[in-house]
Amino acid sequence: MLSGPHDRRPSSERTVLVPSSLAAMYAKRIQLTNFGPIKQLNIEFPFKGQVPKPTVLVGQNGSGKSILLGHIVNGLVQAKDTVYPETPEVDPGRVYKLKTNFYIRTGSDFSFARVDFEDDLFVTELTMMKAKQEYPGVPASIAGTAAESMWHRLDAGSNDYSETNLQGGPATFSKLQRLFAENCVQYFPCNRFEEPAWLNEQNLTAPVEYLERQRMPLHTDRRAISVSPFRDNRNWLFDVIYDRRVPETRSVRVPIPVRPGAKPWIIEGERAEVRDHDNRVLKTALDIVQRVLRDDSNASFRISRRGYRFIALHGDDGLIVPNLTQLSSGEMSLLNLFLSILRDFESAGASSFSGSADIRGVVIVDEVDLHLHAVHQFEILPQLIGMFPNVQLIMTSHSPLFVLGMERAFGADGFGLYDLPGGHRITPRSSESSVTPMRRSAQHGGLSRTSVRPSGTLRNQS
Ligand SMILES: Nc1ncnc2c1ncn2[C@@H]1O[C@H](COP(=O)(O)OP(=O)(O)OP(=O)(O)O)[C@@H](O)[C@H]1O
Ligand SMILES: [Mg+2]
Repeated sequence: MLSGPHDRRPSSERTVLVPSSLAAMYAKRIQLTNFGPIKQLNIEFPFKGQVPKPTVLVGQNGSGKSILLGHIVNGLVQAKDTVYPETPEVDPGRVYKLKTNFYIRTGSDFSFARVDFEDDLFVTELTMMKAKQEYPGVPASIAGTAAESMWHRLDAGSNDYSETNLQGGPATFSKLQRLFAENCVQYFPCNRFEEPAWLNEQNLTAPVEYLERQRMPLHTDRRAISVSPFRDNRNWLFDVIYDRRVPETRSVRVPIPVRPGAKPWIIEGERAEVRDHDNRVLKTALDIVQRVLRDDSNASFRISRRGYRFIALHGDDGLIVPNLTQLSSGEMSLLNLFLSILRDFESAGASSFSGSADIRGVVIVDEVDLHLHAVHQFEILPQLIGMFPNVQLIMTSHSPLFVLGMERAFGADGFGLYDLPGGHRITPRSSESSVTPMRRSAQHGGLSRTSVRPSGTLRNQS
């Protein structure tokens, strides 16, 4: 993250990053008017003091959940491409979110959106049905609203206007740079997919590869949009496991002065703090894998023999998973969500890491319960979310069980639950909530009275 020879900005704009009091990239608020099925929505994302609460968006199919996420992701991708313009998230000349009037709510003549992030960062857009010059004056639907000032800045021949400070400028570039150095930023779209190992022999046998980290300014190997992140997660995990075992790569030359004027002796030693860092990262990765697999043994990762390099998980009684590639779709989905968060934060170059609570950032997940069994929705997923209290998770879900599990893990006020398309905050007990019927059945002898065997079967405690 240091300015260097590849930095093409004028020297006055270059900054050397000094580890600071940590800055956060949290989304604070989203306002949408006339977007698809959404007539009017205003969500203030929930916080406890400075700490973000997890946010769950629910609503029927076609209620605007993914459209809403798209607006937040759009801002994050713009910010990331500002910081790393040499390795953009979307191809040069393209945008993440289509600019079109197709999404103006049927019967309306404009759509308006604004997303505010911490530190006064924002992105806002106004789209009209027709070019400005085709209207006789300020349309009545806009007059007096937040969109009116944008209308005045619209070019006569144009029908859309957007404004943001996420695309840099000298004042915000160093702020954005710092945010990406200290935050994990991840979006998991609903079309994420990992090919099962059994589908393709190549998948199963493909050895892990060494990562080539891009450490040049304006470049990164971090990806904010995670569609199929397993291969990168596995290679990164291999890197961490391997680095821990190779003290030679971690040696430092320490000059020892002997007497004034004499050549100092040089001794080589291992940098203990680097090894501790890797140990803690690895311990967190292991914790994630074990929670996903509901394994509470004294497990460890092992790398198989040379030439294959599988990452296996061993427990007290021997092999638990011979090769992480062989995990099921649901296990993969969970593992990749949380391993990607850890990897992205670690790849950002975090200077210190004592555990998952150190990780901050913003993570957007569409259909968070994808592929998950009831127990994983209700119990394991909320548990994993609880490992990352400083990550702002904004998720959509179709699962009442997940919502009930969140309520059990965090309390009704410990997370934000919003019903789309209105965006009203609800509780699992609200009459409008689709969760209510499930809550009743869960209370009457359902999941809250069950526990899980290591084999994964449900067992009634009574
Ligand atoms: N211009 C428009 N006017 C009204 N509705 C629209 C417009 N454009 C798109 N839509 C509707 O928006 C919906 C798509 O929204 P979105 O993908 O956000 O839904 P969702 O809540 O994520 O649904 P799912 O749970 O199925 O993923 C569709 O029902 C589509 O018909
Ligand atoms: Mg959707």
